[in-house]
Amino acid sequence: MSEKTLSIVKPDLVAKNKIGEVVKRFEDAELRVVGMKRMQLSQQQAEQFYAEHSERPFFGELVDFMTSGPVVVQVLEGENAIKKNRDLMGATNPNNADEGTIRYDFCRGNEDLSANGVHGSDSSESAQREIAFFFQAQDIVS
Ligand code: RTP
Ligand code: MG
Repeated sequence: MSEKTLSIVKPDLVAKNKIGEVVKRFEDAELRVVGMKRMQLSQQQAEQFYAEHSERPFFGELVDFMTSGPVVVQVLEGENAIKKNRDLMGATNPNNADEGTIRYDFCRGNEDLSANGVHGSDSSESAQREIAFFFQAQDIVS
């Protein structure tokens, strides 16, 4: 089933100029970028986006990191896009991620656990919420 998911290239990989390498992983896996923009998140946007984690001890660090520089938000479309993107990303902690995943290949060795390169929606409910958080319908073109 074709679905859509939200991906974010986080500030660490934007700073490392790896946007294209991340997008290549998606395209090689037959996901299409059907919406894309570069933006600087405000503190309020980052807090709202990650609201599910607001009670976690790492929330402040996560918000600081996500607002530390520009991000690239994308809507990916394809067969099983949500799980496919999560598989391409790898485990939350890059040092535990499988070789060949984005987080292992570009982010391993980082001290800061927030700096794991990419975000991906973790369910169809999250994907719907997160896509609507950043994109208007007319800015997504399949
Ligand atoms: P994401 O939401 O960004 O795609 O990452 P995820 O599902 O793999 O992980 P999640 O549990 O949702 O955590 C969200 C983000 O918070 C940061 N984090 N820091 N210091 C820590 O222990 C810690 N744990 C998580 C990471 O940036 C993680 O991606
Ligand atoms: Mg998550």
